Amino acid sequence: HMKHFLDIHKTDKSELRHIIDTAKSIKDARAGRPKAAPDADLPLKDRMVALIFEKPSTRTRVSFDVGARQMGGQTMVLSGNDMQLGHGETIADTARVLSRFVDMIMIRTFDESVLEEMAEYATVPVINGLTDRTHPCQIMADILTFEEHRGPIAGKKVVWCGDGNNVCSSFLHAAGQFGFDLTFTGPVQLDPEMEFVGLARNAGSTITIERDPFKAVEGADLIVADTWVSMHDAQSARERRHNMLRPYQVNETLMEAAGKDALFMHCLPAHRGEEVTSEVMDGPQSVIWDEAENRLHAQKAIMRWCAGG
Ligand code: CP
Ligand code: NVA
Repeated sequence: HMKHFLDIHKTDKSELRHIIDTAKSIKDARAGRPKAAPDADLPLKDRMVALIFEKPSTRTRVSFDVGARQMGGQTMVLSGNDMQLGHGETIADTARVLSRFVDMIMIRTFDESVLEEMAEYATVPVINGLTDRTHPCQIMADILTFEEHRGPIAGKKVVWCGDGNNVCSSFLHAAGQFGFDLTFTGPVQLDPEMEFVGLARNAGSTITIERDPFKAVEGADLIVADTWVSMHDAQSARERRHNMLRPYQVNETLMEAAGKDALFMHCLPAHRGEEVTSEVMDGPQSVIWDEAENRLHAQKAIMRWCAGG
């Protein structure tokens, strides 16, 4: 059946592990090679990949585009605004039509029902490039990054600081699937989705909610922050969110409380001096540039998996 990559909790554990291991070997094989040099094998040879964006993107856009080309595929980047999608044509009809032209679809959208409808009616694989609710490709890159620096993530402690948003949700999915523990620290109004907390707990992970950020980070192997205002959040909520989230800024004092072995990650784009300080972003515990680079390798492994390779 069709191999969509829609969410981490919807993908088999063994498949997820296979994707991470593939990403690692894809990365190793490319070390030091020019960015436009084709990979040794070309799993997307003669394949066309559509990259649809209904929200802005730097990393997702560039990494999927470069990755598909390195694997021998061709790409088209489509802006939601310029398509009939959202101007009355249903998602299902768009999915049916696109499936006649392209071999794979990646979509970044607002409501996750758009992604689900696309996947239901497309006859080619569909990949989730972020919705209001989840961001699975990001977390696959994050797992790869953690494991490169620290070895297996199973049994480790990840601390999410701030808003229990889409990226946090995919971390919760990953906690259950990869077997790590997650502590959320943030204001009660911005708690993570309890349905996903429940899923991770049922899978055997320890999920803790701790309002005190200094207690939360004790013994952390990884501290993660994200923007305080996501693309789907109303701009009018900006000030209220900043006020609630300010105590959860990741700064040097908080990193000291975590200890020197804790890594720092942020999916980017980051707002220096808001959710994280420049000292932490540019400091010795930060692995944010590796994390950004790993979007490329992780998503190549995801596309390869979707293409049946
Ligand atoms: N982290 C991430 O998805 O970045 P972009 O919004 O730039 O794609
Ligand atoms: N939570 C952020 C992630 C951006 C990659 C957003 O949805 O805007």
